[in-house]
Amino acid sequence: MQVKILDLTRQYQLLKEQAEAAVCEQMATGMFIGGKAVADFEEKFARYIGVKHAISVNSGTDALVIALKALGIGQGDEVITTPFSFFATAETIAMAGALPVFADIDGTSYNLDPSKIEEKITPRTKAILPVHIFGQCADMPRISRIAEKHGLSVIEDACQAVGSGLKTEDGKWVMAGALGDLGCFSFFPTKNLGAFGDAGMITTNDDNLAVICRAYKEHGMAQNGAKARFLLEGVEDELEGTVSPDGLYNPYKYYNYLIGYNSRMDAIQARILTIKLDYLEQFNKRRAQIAEFYSAAFRGVKGIRVPATAPGVGHVWHQYALCCDRKDELGSFLASKGVGSAAFYPVPLHLQKAFAGLGYREGDLPVAEKITKQTVCLPIFPELTQEELDYVAQCVKEFCAQ
Ligand SMILES: Cc1ncc(COP(=O)(O)O)c(C=O)c1O
Repeated sequence: MQVKILDLTRQYQLLKEQAEAAVCEQMATGMFIGGKAVADFEEKFARYIGVKHAISVNSGTDALVIALKALGIGQGDEVITTPFSFFATAETIAMAGALPVFADIDGTSYNLDPSKIEEKITPRTKAILPVHIFGQCADMPRISRIAEKHGLSVIEDACQAVGSGLKTEDGKWVMAGALGDLGCFSFFPTKNLGAFGDAGMITTNDDNLAVICRAYKEHGMAQNGAKARFLLEGVEDELEGTVSPDGLYNPYKYYNYLIGYNSRMDAIQARILTIKLDYLEQFNKRRAQIAEFYSAAFRGVKGIRVPATAPGVGHVWHQYALCCDRKDELGSFLASKGVGSAAFYPVPLHLQKAFAGLGYREGDLPVAEKITKQTVCLPIFPELTQEELDYVAQCVKEFCAQ
């Protein structure tokens, strides 16, 4: 039997009719970027996360860069983050001109360890950027307390955690993306909520940050650009505008107040994501069932450690990551049996060659270094059949018995 690590064609078949109708309808409108489809999705997503503002962008990477810039983070600033993530988490800190500072992770959740953060804070620290890795929320109540104590901002990298959340100290359930100053999401096709291309979102409850993000995502122009320049630089500009004879363009469009980005969401992606958002809870529930199945199947099996969820913390199982000392051998064994697996992540970010200039050495962040040598991710997409799951579990157990 062949079981792929991920098969996106199955979800496409499930949503084919709805998706194709929506894409065709959108194409017929002649509106390909931004517009009503995007505004509607932003509104629906904000409602789902429980925030005032959702600002669509082109990718999770752009969401992170724009969020950092919106907080005024740049040259000479430091941002504390996790070394156990996709490269973009720390890359974007560098792209904003700031210095990524890595604190070690917790060996059970694989998330930033709050007890390792304070020792990394310096007078230059401006923000903490936790990642909800593999879909499990980081310990946001403790991270937020540290941030508050030291006057730091918090940006959530929720790129893998759409639909996750946690119970706050007052017993309220709060979604990932509503737990920090700004939340950043990726709708890369492999994500729990995946587009048919690149797309991303920034969430916030802060009206001013929302305006600044909207300005940065579109060349710092027009009304949002002028407002953002005032908020960031205190410069009050007279709003300029030129009305086009046919009235087609926003008269303020070709007047720019900040150096920004081109990070707009395609209308077709917004239509796809609007459809898929209705299925997200159902898909995430199925992922949780699969995780439960694997963990029950591996109970008592020697040589592997199953992932754990902290109490009161949500997990949307973007990945199911086992720990195994014989990581490479397990991956090769599964491949020989036709089972796909993935080694997220093979290199901790502080030891990536691109960050060699930061001067980290092997041994600096021992927990992250150990975990990267152990994690093997198994297939966990909602459309997997029970027969396939039985086969994957049987193969893992067969390996462990050797
Ligand atoms: C944790 C994390 N951060 C950031 C990103 C970047 O998102 P994108 O690929 O949409 O730019 C991703 C996904 O690729 C991710 O998994």
